Amino acid sequence: MQCLNVDLGDRSYPIYIGSGLFDSSDLLVSHMKGRQVCIVTDDTVAPLYLGNLERVLQGFKVTKVILPTGEAFKNWATLQQIFDALLNDRHDRRTTLIALGGGVIGDMTGFAAACYQRGVDFIQIPTTLLSQVDSSVGGKTGINHPAGKNMIGAFYQPQAVLIDTDSLKTLPEREISAGLAEIIKYGFIRDAQFLAWLESNMPALRALDSQLITEAIQRSCAIKAEVVAADEREGGVRAILNLGHTFGHAIETHQGYGNWLHGEAVGAGMVMALDLSARMGWISSEDLARGTSVVASAGLPVMPPENMSQTDFRRLMAVDKKVLDGQLRLVLLRALGDATVTTDFDADALSGCLAMSPA
Ligand code: NAD
Ligand code: GLY
Repeated sequence: MQCLNVDLGDRSYPIYIGSGLFDSSDLLVSHMKGRQVCIVTDDTVAPLYLGNLERVLQGFKVTKVILPTGEAFKNWATLQQIFDALLNDRHDRRTTLIALGGGVIGDMTGFAAACYQRGVDFIQIPTTLLSQVDSSVGGKTGINHPAGKNMIGAFYQPQAVLIDTDSLKTLPEREISAGLAEIIKYGFIRDAQFLAWLESNMPALRALDSQLITEAIQRSCAIKAEVVAADEREGGVRAILNLGHTFGHAIETHQGYGNWLHGEAVGAGMVMALDLSARMGWISSEDLARGTSVVASAGLPVMPPENMSQTDFRRLMAVDKKVLDGQLRLVLLRALGDATVTTDFDADALSGCLAMSPA
């Protein structure tokens, strides 16, 4: 087992990465204060892994909340089910919420923990590749609004993150590709050597070679932990973690939550960000071609949806969380491995980039 640390002073926490961690009760229990626990999961993950967790938590007073699966349910009504269960079973301030599932479950459980009795502990047990390399780390929690992705939420850090790489074995291929999008993102924004390593190993990563996928998870979490430690609440550098997300969130919202997976929208969105960087002359056309080909090799879309026009993009990008004083800020690349957040992009270049959208 590997252990990384997210260094945030008195809110620091470990990320454990390894095989068979579900069976390790000591790890989990060492991060819990009281005897009450509420496991939040979805109806896809529950039949696969809830039993393991219940066995590990024998002796605790366990409440189970099994939510409907999917991005379409990342909303107030579903969140309310967590509060209903906590109140119904009289959970007090020493309770611990456990998020068992992908990023949807992690984001909602974290937000519930941030709000319940003004804040209780929570632990992330991410079971998708995307949640293991991104959403479980860094404390962004929240839900969607029909007008915009992740628009309601809080920064709220977990007590620990437990990544059991065995859980990836049941993940559908499409979800593996979605997770690879965020892994590729770390190469684009911070680590050109890692990007080259991903290029060489993509088929084995897609096949979940256990040593390589564990290495990819570790490198991704290390980069994320470093960026979050430098800028927990996204006053500056953390925004680079959103490479492709301004375009991607617009795609997700436009297509209806869940129709394009988050990672798929990020894949196409990153290619759009690279395209704009190339139009600005910041990266070469060879770098754009190389970046596009890495994204494609992960089984991800490299073009926005056909039914989305420039007007759709502009309307939806205007509600992005990086918009400040009405001004759009985008994450662009100055080189492969070097991202920057900027308002300094040429209007014509952006129009050209959005014209990638065939509608
Ligand atoms: P998800 O949570 O919808 O999970 C994807 C699917 O996989 C679901 O159907 C789920 O039931 C299923 N699943 C989960 N684990 C499984 C397993 N081990 N075996 C089989 N099926 C399994 O999607 P996701 O890609 O994990 O997360 C996407 C969400 O994360 C989005 O809402 C996105 O906004 C959010 N996100 C948040 C952050 C953050 O920093 N908080 C970062 C990136 C993404
Ligand atoms: N996924 C973007 C962030 O955590 O900041």
